[in-house]
Amino acid sequence: MTPIYLMGFAGVGKTTLGEAVSLRSGVKFVDLDQYIEESLGMTVREIFAQKGEDFFRKTETAKLMELSESIPGDTDAEHPNSSEYVLIACGGGTPCFSENMDYMLRRGKTVWLQADEQTLHNRLKLGRAQRPLIASKSDDEILEYIRHTLESRSPFYSRAQYRFDATRLESIEQVEETSQKFIREFMG
Ligand code: S3P
Repeated sequence: MTPIYLMGFAGVGKTTLGEAVSLRSGVKFVDLDQYIEESLGMTVREIFAQKGEDFFRKTETAKLMELSESIPGDTDAEHPNSSEYVLIACGGGTPCFSENMDYMLRRGKTVWLQADEQTLHNRLKLGRAQRPLIASKSDDEILEYIRHTLESRSPFYSRAQYRFDATRLESIEQVEETSQKFIREFMG
C-alpha cells in the first residue's frame, strides 16, 4: 500500500480534502494529528500545553512512521482498487521537523496542498481554537504568523513531488469538484 501524504500549511484543507477523497474513492484516510490524539488520549492542544512542543515533535515523527508502516490493508467492496493507496494528512509542521520529509519522500507520494495567504487567513481565523500555535493570536497576528511561517516552511514543503491547488474547498460543490480533480490526478 502506498501512502499519499497530504502536506501544507495549517488551514489549507488537508483533513477536509482527505476525508472528501476518501469518501469518493474508498481509499482509507488517516489524519496524523487525530492518530496522535487517540494514541496519547490527549488533544494536540493539551500535548503542547502539558508536555511542550519538543515532545509533540518527537511523538509526531514516531507516529508518522508507526502509521506508515502499519496501515491496515482492507479493500472497500465498492472500490476494488482502494487498497492500493492510503491517504495520510500530516500536521502543518510535519514535513519541517526531524527527517520526516526524507522519510515521506522515500515511503510514498507527497503532495503539497497550496492556497493563497488570504484563504489561509480566513480559514485560520475560524479554526484557531484547536491550534496551539495560533490559539492566542489576534487576526492581524495570525496574518503575520502565516507570512512568516509560510516563508520558513516553504523550502520543506517544496520538496514534495507534487503540488495541488486547495483554494476551492469553500462549499460542498467546490469540495466535490476539487476532490474529483485530486482523484483524477493522483489515483487514476
Ligand atoms: C501544527 C499544525 C497542526 C498540528 C499542531 C502543529 C503546525 O496541524 O499538527 O498544532 O506546526 O503548523 P494542522 O496543520 O492540521 O492545523
